[in-house]
Amino acid sequence: SDTTTILGIESSCDDTAAAIVRVGGAVPEILSSVVDGQTELHDAYGGVVPEIAARAHAEKVDLCVRAALDTAGIGLGQVDAVAVTAGPGLIGGVMSGVMCAKGIAAGAGLPLIGVNHLAGHALTPRLTDAVEYPYLMLLVSGGHCQFLLVEGAEEFTRLGGTIDDAPGEAFDKVARLLALPQPGGPSVEAEAALGDAARFKLPRPLLDRPGCDMSFSGLKTAVLRARDGEMQEGRLSRRVRADICAGFQASVCDVLGEKTRRALEIYLEQAPARPVLAVAGGVAANGPIRARLMQVAEAAGAAFVAPPLRLCTDNAAMIAYAGAERFARGHRDGMDLAARPRWPL
Ligand code: KG4
Ligand code: ZN
Repeated sequence: SDTTTILGIESSCDDTAAAIVRVGGAVPEILSSVVDGQTELHDAYGGVVPEIAARAHAEKVDLCVRAALDTAGIGLGQVDAVAVTAGPGLIGGVMSGVMCAKGIAAGAGLPLIGVNHLAGHALTPRLTDAVEYPYLMLLVSGGHCQFLLVEGAEEFTRLGGTIDDAPGEAFDKVARLLALPQPGGPSVEAEAALGDAARFKLPRPLLDRPGCDMSFSGLKTAVLRARDGEMQEGRLSRRVRADICAGFQASVCDVLGEKTRRALEIYLEQAPARPVLAVAGGVAANGPIRARLMQVAEAAGAAFVAPPLRLCTDNAAMIAYAGAERFARGHRDGMDLAARPRWPL
């Protein structure tokens, strides 16, 4: 047949994932997408511990592949190629995935394709919404924060991004400072909904500087100072906690909103026929942030595209799809495919 079926494997952070994606039909089809998270393993440490992550990936990756094949109802005989995240990410985890993929490729005689994790995120709007090039992608998660001009399956231009922390990391840190549960995004969002954003004047880092670069680490420090200023006998009132969350989230909204407006300006110089602002990453799940981005897109005359959350966050369907794009271009990797901690697009 003229369809191509790809097995995708992802293990670059704290989710082990495998998926089967079929391309070549009218629309790409996700036959299965299995994600096994590890948050409970890292909870006690206040962040992802690379050694623990690597060991968990090594233990789980084969099971995820098995589950992805079973859910899709196919065997390796019906797979045309194996795509795997080869970076960027935590090296131990990436190695687990790459070794598993090499084993399958060698054992089943299948082509091997290394995929850039960021390309996986950046191409997701084509998997889910058939978005046409060129589009603007804002990738905002716990590990990434950047604007990408996507002009082709392998043509990405970075327009700007964070110079320090990613917003998701800041949400997680703020939750920790305020003794709210992890992951911080959803708990800070819930508190913020009850708070007064105007009470604490938190900074809007880099907003006054031209360009699309962002910074979030100073905002974290400002939250720490606001907290310490309000702490009484080691305790914080619920009211204060909600107000700090609201102030923090409002600042992230303002920064992301204004920087997105500027990135859209640069993108629109390309005169795309159907302008699109697409988002990916866990932070895109945030209601007020999403609403702001939608507003900014609408004001610029661009459509707003957000893939369903399970495909916005780390998953292997996006890796299989990006692998399919590379496969179609004749790209093949050898058994010397390296796991890369850094791999700029
Ligand atoms: O994309 P993702 O699952 O993993 C990577 O970081 O690659 O994103 C997880 C991040 C976490 O930092 C989490 O706190 C944040 O996304 N997040 C949110 C929300 N839901 C998840 N941040 C703000 N608001 C949310 N509702
Ligand atoms: Zn990611």
